[in-house]
Amino acid sequence: MNAIEIKNLSKSFRGMYALKDFHMTVPVGSIYGFIGENGSGKSTTEKLICGHLVPDSGEIKLFGKDYTDAGVRVRVGALIENAGCFPSSSVYANLKMQALNLGLKNIDEEIHRVLKIVRMEDSINIKFKSCSLGMKQRIGIAMALLGSPALLILDEPINGLDTDGMRIMREILVDITKTYGCTVLISSHILGELEKIATHYGIIKQGQMVQEISAKEMESRARVFVRLKTQDMKGAESALIANFKNVELRDGYLFVYDVEKAETVVETLLKDGHVVSEITKNKVGLEEYYVQLMSKGGK
Ligand SMILES: Nc1ncnc2c1ncn2[C@@H]1O[C@H](COP(=O)(O)OP(=O)(O)O)[C@@H](O)[C@H]1O
Ligand SMILES: [Mg+2]
Repeated sequence: MNAIEIKNLSKSFRGMYALKDFHMTVPVGSIYGFIGENGSGKSTTEKLICGHLVPDSGEIKLFGKDYTDAGVRVRVGALIENAGCFPSSSVYANLKMQALNLGLKNIDEEIHRVLKIVRMEDSINIKFKSCSLGMKQRIGIAMALLGSPALLILDEPINGLDTDGMRIMREILVDITKTYGCTVLISSHILGELEKIATHYGIIKQGQMVQEISAKEMESRARVFVRLKTQDMKGAESALIANFKNVELRDGYLFVYDVEKAETVVETLLKDGHVVSEITKNKVGLEEYYVQLMSKGGK
């Protein structure tokens, strides 16, 4: 079953389409990385799923039911834009307010449960405004986790976090899916981080889904490449172009794609008098995959 299934979804603002015939499929239990440049329609999609916006047309199904179904709505938690907390109230008081709004039972127990998940059990009495950005984001996630949602929607939750903050966030998200069986939809443009946790990706461009792909599929499709430096980059480029199909000079490096052995590249260059000063062999990661997909016109 799919946690989210969207078909032919359109949404316009003042006659301009933010989403047009958009589709999306998010499998249950996945961490779905939602990628796209600014203004491509990520937040709009998330707000539509959460019912914060009304679509022009199209279909949104959550766990097989229409997204307006009251039974299904209570299974969705979201952090879009900011946590909506009262700055002068404590972490605990903010969570209590939300729990009351949701009509939850066993409120104290539930608050401790979510604070444990976001690793903030020791910070319950701190005022929200005194929390670091990383803590605020985690409180936002804790708020979204109240009532044990089966689907969590997070809009750019790792933006602006430091390395440590990102690591904790990663651990929390994996924990939420592995331990609690929750499905997570997370939009981000920090692809290197997303790549460490996402099981599926959806790439959106100008309000349309360009590609949906599982991390496994991406890994198996990923092209092998060699990246290197020499003294005379232009001369080396010519020598490589004469011998290899896919050669690119960019970002101060020469890239040779689809080569089995780095040695063959080094030999080719040596024959032409180029000494390699730095070389690595790698597989195309999410960042490169994304750049290549976009440069192909996105189809
Ligand atoms: N409330 C709004 N009113 C008018 N235009 C909007 C509104 N929300 C979003 N848009 C427009 O819709 C497009 C998609 O925006 P958004 O979904 O926020 O993109 P993203 O989250 O991918 O950066 C943009 O062109 C944006 O300007
Ligand atoms: Mg956005």
